[in-house]
Amino acid sequence: MTDQRPLALVTGASSGIGLELARQFAGAGFDLVLNAEDDELTAAADALRVGGTTVTPVRADLRAIAGVEAVWSAVQATGRPLAAAALNAGVGRGGAFVDDDLETQMEVIDLDVVSTVRLAHHVLRDMVARGEGRVLITSSVAATMPGAFQAVYNASKSFLQSFAEALVEELAGTGVTVTSLMPGPTDTEFFDRAQLQDTRVGSGSKDDPAQVAEQGFTALMRGEQKVFAGSLLSRVQAVAAGLIPDRLKAKAHRQMAEPGSGG
Ligand SMILES: NC(=O)c1ccc[n+]([C@@H]2O[C@H](COP(=O)([O-])OP(=O)(O)OC[C@H]3O[C@@H](n4cnc5c(N)ncnc54)[C@H](OP(=O)(O)O)[C@@H]3O)[C@@H](O)[C@H]2O)c1
Repeated sequence: MTDQRPLALVTGASSGIGLELARQFAGAGFDLVLNAEDDELTAAADALRVGGTTVTPVRADLRAIAGVEAVWSAVQATGRPLAAAALNAGVGRGGAFVDDDLETQMEVIDLDVVSTVRLAHHVLRDMVARGEGRVLITSSVAATMPGAFQAVYNASKSFLQSFAEALVEELAGTGVTVTSLMPGPTDTEFFDRAQLQDTRVGSGSKDDPAQVAEQGFTALMRGEQKVFAGSLLSRVQAVAAGLIPDRLKAKAHRQMAEPGSGG
């Protein structure tokens, strides 16, 4: 019975949007390979092991190549085809670029960009060889604006957005779809981890990660290219941002993300 269920990989699955994406997959009858770095993953995996869902948790640090390879090995060890993958793990980092420790900034790129590209290469090669599969890449509305006081993070999400949309075109006709999920500010551990608590965006209203994940999952299953996710207001704001010059968006981002802007 088990191996008739489709299998999905979700990274960053221990909290926030990734945990809710895993819930969406489980609710739709998928078995799961879940990745995160810390022990919180064990509780997430246990909570998802209901209704016959088989869950394989893989604790690994995706900032390291060895962590990426451990996740891919765990997928292969199931001996089952990967029907879907949500490449979602990511962290932000607030503050002025020149004041921050460089290695901390580089780790944002290692996780958000490098691990996503590495995993996507494994996953997509396998899916294209089989002629089927669905990949969701968690980008952000941050991809659409220069991120003053969160410069490396926004640039990383811009990379992912361009990468995902390019793959959509490259993979046309292969049976494999790529969808980018573009949430606005969402109520997760993100802002604490990124040290953005004392900023306007950190202290402002946020969307429900369950709603974001549901919209991302629906877009993934429909094979849509991208989805602005969250409340109606967030989605309208994301579309409107496309009309604003980058220089103005960078200034607006300063107002949202400069340390102390939270008032
Ligand atoms: N929240 C927002 O406003 C927002 C908006 C747009 C896009 N996003 C994107 O959404 C994605 C999920 O973030 P979230 O908001 O749900 O935040 P979150 O609650 O902090 O979740 C981040 C997830 O990534 C995992 N992770 C962090 N570092 C890792 C590492 N080195 N190796 C493996 N896993 C690691 C975390 O697991 P551990 O706890 O084990 O480290 C956790 O499961 C990210 O790509 C983020 O950029 C978030």
